[in-house]
Amino acid sequence: MPAIAVLGAQWGDEGKGKIVHLLCRDADFCVRFNGGTNAGHRVVTSRIPALVGANGDDEPTETQEFKFHLIPAGALHENCICVLGNGMVIDPYALVQERNALRDALRGREPNIYISYGAHLLLPYHPIIERLEGSQSALDTTAKGIGPAYRDKAARIGLRMVDLLFPKTLPEKLQRVLAHYQSIWPEVKELQQFQSEALRDELLKLTETFRQRIIDTVQLLHDALEQEKQIVFEGAQAALLDLDFGTYPYVTSSTATIGGIGSGAGVPPSRVNRVIGVAKAYTTRVGHGPFPTEIHNDLGDRLRQQGHEFGTTTGRPRRCGWLDLVALRYVSKLDGLSELALTKLDVLAGLAEIPVATAYRYQGSTLHEFPAVCEMLSECEPIYEKLPGWDEPLGECHHFSDLPRAAQDYVRFIEDEINLPLSLISVGPGEDENLWR
Ligand code: IMP
Repeated sequence: MPAIAVLGAQWGDEGKGKIVHLLCRDADFCVRFNGGTNAGHRVVTSRIPALVGANGDDEPTETQEFKFHLIPAGALHENCICVLGNGMVIDPYALVQERNALRDALRGREPNIYISYGAHLLLPYHPIIERLEGSQSALDTTAKGIGPAYRDKAARIGLRMVDLLFPKTLPEKLQRVLAHYQSIWPEVKELQQFQSEALRDELLKLTETFRQRIIDTVQLLHDALEQEKQIVFEGAQAALLDLDFGTYPYVTSSTATIGGIGSGAGVPPSRVNRVIGVAKAYTTRVGHGPFPTEIHNDLGDRLRQQGHEFGTTTGRPRRCGWLDLVALRYVSKLDGLSELALTKLDVLAGLAEIPVATAYRYQGSTLHEFPAVCEMLSECEPIYEKLPGWDEPLGECHHFSDLPRAAQDYVRFIEDEINLPLSLISVGPGEDENLWR
């Protein structure tokens, strides 16, 4: 049974949630290994969620939309165990809220979740610190406190999920980190109001119902591998937002590439048999940072409207641009992709021609490799190949051969340029709007 990784191959929002949901129909485990509530994984299902995967004979009903921020998108399948790995930073208030909402949507069925001992807690002071430090506005982050939470982890003053199992030592640990920040901002009332004992009591009460689900998930996953269970690893954010390999400093604070599975779930990437990169048929980015193929005219607005390119987590309008094969080739190398899933091909219908970047021009020379250095990338001009467009809507296409000729050629062009098979093409948000190849 394979272990499959589903990883963002651009700057996030590629539609990973839907792919993970589809793959988890047959999976035993779905594992998140990075990020926190900055992620927003959207799944539109046309089935009765309480029955999805349990009987396999569920009757289609009207569509229903789910937005996952912390809980892995495999959670709609009753037989799929969801794991929140040690590489995550978890806001316990948001987790309780998301779990309760999901339980209601699943008609009372408790989502099957386990949380790693080692996952860090993102606590109410983290978003405050992010705002005070100004990184929220300088980088245009999601304002969830992600950077400060990961920094506490690296500075070894962070609190972890396992600390909730040791109430006696919890106030002491909270006191250490609170004293640190309260001494930096003595005048900020919002920060001064936190008291370690009161916060401990609030956290213990809040997490009462899921504390027994905080376990050694490394062992759980290795047992699963031993028993040849099928595992889907769900990446959050994407390679170009990776802390090390993305467009630093306009990145998130976690490892969104394949290595995150090792450091954020305790499973060596060598155990992963299929690595699926997910890319849109065009490109989007939220937040600041260089974006060579960004469109600065009406066509950008058109893609934004047609593709509903507004953030799932923050509602921010996404910047829109053409597909960038220079970036995709870089990501393919970083992640060792075995295949690509191309999403939102339907959004491109109606364009006379579709530009695709195959190289960059930088200071008079042609670059075929992606320079993940902002100073260079912001000076790169894309060199476009212009491919013919098509007018027909794609929503009714069920097989690759149903696609208009120009759409088939668009897909084949990408495959040839990045030297990867496109195993899945998505032509709409619904779980049945896919062409598997
Ligand atoms: P942070 O992760 O909130 O610190 O934000 C850092 C950068 O990553 C900002 O530009 C965000 O817009 C971006 N970002 C973080 N999470 C996501 C995501 O799930 N999708 C798209 N962009 C994201």
